[in-house]
Amino acid sequence: MTIEENVPLAPLTTMKVGGPAKLFVNAITEDDVMSAVEYARSNHLPWFVLGGGSNLVVADAGFSGVVIKIAIPGVKSCDVRRRRREYVVGAGEEWDTLVAKAVAENCAGIETLSGIPGTVGGTPVQNVGAYGQEVAETIQSIRVLDLQNMRVKEFSNAECGFSYRTSIFNSTAAGHYIVLGVTYSLEIGGPARVTYADLKRYFGEGRQPSLQETRDAVRAVRLSKAMLIVPDDEDCRSAGSFFKNPIVEDSKYQEVAAIAAQKGIVAAPPKYPATDGKVKMSAAWLVENAGFSKGYTRGNAAISRKHALALVNHGSATAAEIIALRDEVQRGVSGMFGIQLHPEPVMLGF
Ligand code: EPU
Repeated sequence: MTIEENVPLAPLTTMKVGGPAKLFVNAITEDDVMSAVEYARSNHLPWFVLGGGSNLVVADAGFSGVVIKIAIPGVKSCDVRRRRREYVVGAGEEWDTLVAKAVAENCAGIETLSGIPGTVGGTPVQNVGAYGQEVAETIQSIRVLDLQNMRVKEFSNAECGFSYRTSIFNSTAAGHYIVLGVTYSLEIGGPARVTYADLKRYFGEGRQPSLQETRDAVRAVRLSKAMLIVPDDEDCRSAGSFFKNPIVEDSKYQEVAAIAAQKGIVAAPPKYPATDGKVKMSAAWLVENAGFSKGYTRGNAAISRKHALALVNHGSATAAEIIALRDEVQRGVSGMFGIQLHPEPVMLGF
């Protein structure tokens, strides 16, 4: 294990803001991960586990502890039953490369999760989801380092406590485990999932596209919304969706709809069914209708010109500017609609 000093973190994130890590370990084996944790502990230093940096905002002052970049490689696959193939994947693998491989091998289950930046290890933590699928549907098991006894442990899907953008790893057991690898169970020759409105629109009625066509369509839609990382496109210097879609009681939704009608907003706010009879509202809609149109700019921070839910760095933004814009949007939405938006990215060093 090699420990580097003063390593800039901004280039390791998609948002590209923030200062350096005082100490930095690029962990390519499970032993590296363990040694890095033990080093941090014995030196009484805080540590932070970095994956693909696609859902992360780093503070301008950086992080005065040990950043452990999980770079464990490896993709192995084996057929378990007639129509199922398991992919056993190291946490450091690029997520979209795995999706491309699965699609090329005609395995269904993650095709609409195409084009999402980041690494495999991050996918179970926030239960990554997009365009009608979420990884909770295909995760078979997760290999983790238990930080209490420094043993490697396997979690079954049911033990992960998955729900919308949530697992035990970012809620009840946050900080207790480090994801080392994930096993996905995919359906050989299964149909592509085309349930999401954007995809139905793309293909039109009554057509069942192939997995590859679906992957291509998702990437095209993401590109049009600046949710696909394109180097040098400033609308892509973001952390994806900056706010979670709020899940509210139907009565709250009715209040928002009434406020909207009063303000002369003609179309009803979008809503999607959630669990327990609640509804999921669109954070992007709330942001736009609270007066923050796409492209709204404050210094070097802005709302993406292509999607109201992404805050973008116009090139030389500081983390402070991003945070100021976050606060302004939260105040605006809460003032107009009485809904508190919660940020989705992880904040480091604040
Ligand atoms: N909308 C607007 N303005 C916009 C964009 C969207 O009002 O600028 C409204 C539209 O009514 C649209 C609705 O919001 O129908 C939903 O928009 P979209 O389908 O783009 O999805 P989203 O709810 O904004 C979520 C995820 C994304 C994921 C997409 C596609 C969250 C917080 N975000 O966005 O995930 O890619 O669905 O499935 O759940 C991420 O988490 O980082 C992320 C990018």
